[in-house]
Amino acid sequence: MKKRMAYLEEIDKRDRNDGTPKLQRLRQIPPETGEFLAIIASTCPEGEFIEVGTSAGYSTMWISLACIERQTKIRTFEILPEKANIARETFKESQIEQYIELVEGDAVKYLNALEHISFCFLDAEKEIYETCYRIIIPKMVKGGIIVADNAISHYEDLKVMIEKALDDNRVDSMIVPIGKGELICRRR
Ligand SMILES: C[S@@+](CC[C@H](N)C(=O)[O-])C[C@H]1O[C@@H](n2cnc3c(N)ncnc32)[C@H](O)[C@@H]1O
Repeated sequence: MKKRMAYLEEIDKRDRNDGTPKLQRLRQIPPETGEFLAIIASTCPEGEFIEVGTSAGYSTMWISLACIERQTKIRTFEILPEKANIARETFKESQIEQYIELVEGDAVKYLNALEHISFCFLDAEKEIYETCYRIIIPKMVKGGIIVADNAISHYEDLKVMIEKALDDNRVDSMIVPIGKGELICRRR
């Protein structure tokens, strides 16, 4: 897994500097956010683990560390077939396929059918954060945690959703200054 992480970190770094178009870039989290996710996911209550926005599976690898420890699976959603293909390669090469269910398609279409969510990492296009938050929060188990990326780097784009979360009496929430800023909400 370390080898695949290093390989994807290299591609992500190159993408950010060589003018690769946004849709093709991996746009993945930095390693410190990965460590944060692995720790949070490992402490969540029993329930379903999900991720919205797989890209090449870099953040999924970090979350899978908690899945390995708990002998559970994460379901991760990716809308772009090219990214989903790279993610499949990632999970195969790092030998974690048995801990991952990769769903290729628009996550928003699948979220309504989910129940008992105990961990969610939200890292897709900013336009869908609010919709995802609205659907996911009622489906979370008590003590379940949702982490949303880019809460500081894209605060203005996410302002409506962030303010809603910080003012939502169904959750305890705050912004953690790790990586690009993580909004973390724990279901009461
Ligand atoms: C910022 S990247 C995710 C990076 C990844 N979490 C990581 O850190 O390794 C966002 C990804 O979300 C995907 N995406 C965007 N909208 C989506 C949707 N509605 N459903 C599923 N995936 C979506 C994009 O194609 C892109 O690959």
